[in-house]
Amino acid sequence: MSGRLRFGLVGAGGIAQSYAQAFERSQRGQLVAVADVRPEAAKALGEVFGCPSFGSHEAMAEAVSLEAVVVCTPPVSHMDICHDFLERKVPVLCEKPLAIDSASARHMIETAKQAGVRFTMASKFRYAEDVVRAKAIVSSGILGEIVLFENAFTSRVDMTQRWNSKPAISGGGVLIDNGTHSVDLIRYFLGPIADVQCVEGKRSQGLDVEETVRIFVRSTAGVLGSIDLSWSINKELESYINIYGTHGTISVGWRESRYRQSSGRDWVVFGKGYDKVQAFTAQIDNFVGAIRGEEALLITAADALASVEVVETAYADLRRSHWVKIKGGAKSKPAMAARPA
Ligand SMILES: NC(=O)c1ccc[n+]([C@@H]2O[C@H](COP(=O)([O-])OP(=O)(O)OC[C@H]3O[C@@H](n4cnc5c(N)ncnc54)[C@H](O)[C@@H]3O)[C@@H](O)[C@H]2O)c1
Repeated sequence: MSGRLRFGLVGAGGIAQSYAQAFERSQRGQLVAVADVRPEAAKALGEVFGCPSFGSHEAMAEAVSLEAVVVCTPPVSHMDICHDFLERKVPVLCEKPLAIDSASARHMIETAKQAGVRFTMASKFRYAEDVVRAKAIVSSGILGEIVLFENAFTSRVDMTQRWNSKPAISGGGVLIDNGTHSVDLIRYFLGPIADVQCVEGKRSQGLDVEETVRIFVRSTAGVLGSIDLSWSINKELESYINIYGTHGTISVGWRESRYRQSSGRDWVVFGKGYDKVQAFTAQIDNFVGAIRGEEALLITAADALASVEVVETAYADLRRSHWVKIKGGAKSKPAMAARPA
């Protein structure tokens, strides 16, 4: 099938700007309408594409014939917006996190199933070229048996004035925000996750949600993964994924990626590093291909649900204390509840 699929976009804020760049590049999807509860934001983006804008997603759905929609609104709104489009039989690509809890995620997926339309979560890193190539290298077996996976997304960002730090809107802090990307990546490389542990670090911004966490996961195959997430610090790392196998190591970096087999002396450099617009374009194109029945979704609805479940379980663990007191030691400051139980 040819021609570009007609997309609507809901939520013309920060991440919508990356979608705008991706739609400019995509050969498979075109933006034909924009909606935002801030009509001026919808209008500004609509003008760039020469397409109509609306003050609500319902108004857009009524007025424009859409073949797909991208939902780029804050997490708490995902369920209602996605539900509305799915009931209208419009396929939906919903920004991460799919939902703020697994009950909502299941409800959305069931609605899509009943409607018989494509529905999944957007999580850009799986579509990054270097990540896809790293996955192929790991799967080839040249690094031996994978024993340890490490991922870090740490970048100091002032969240005091943003919805991201308001648990009723975001569902939590850095764990549900950046952590959703991490969990999706770790599942891409290691398969299903069996166990999770999560501990919280210091809050430097005084937010009502966690700012820094370290997560440990164990895959069903017994591979250990560790994830560092923070809105408070920047670890200044060159890579965001490091995977260690019995016969070698691979590193996916922001500027380039590389691997080394233990039997060889040299690192083999591959890829060009992280290109956000490339990742968003590939994500749109894969969604179009799946709608047209030409290819499988790289992130399925089942993957999306699993990521919500892992994050939810990590929150349950975060609320417990893992620490064992040192006899005679000073009392540590307990972290506040990251999100309501
Ligand atoms: N993939 C990524 O790298 C990435 C990066 C940032 C954010 N995100 C995700 O994208 C989503 C949006 O984040 P953002 O940073 O762009 O937020 P943002 O606050 O910059 O933009 C959200 C927009 O949605 C609008 N909005 C809110 N409720 C609405 C509703 N009911 N109907 C229509 N419009 C509504 C707001 O007015 C705002 O313009 C979140 O789910 C977030 O987790 C993903």
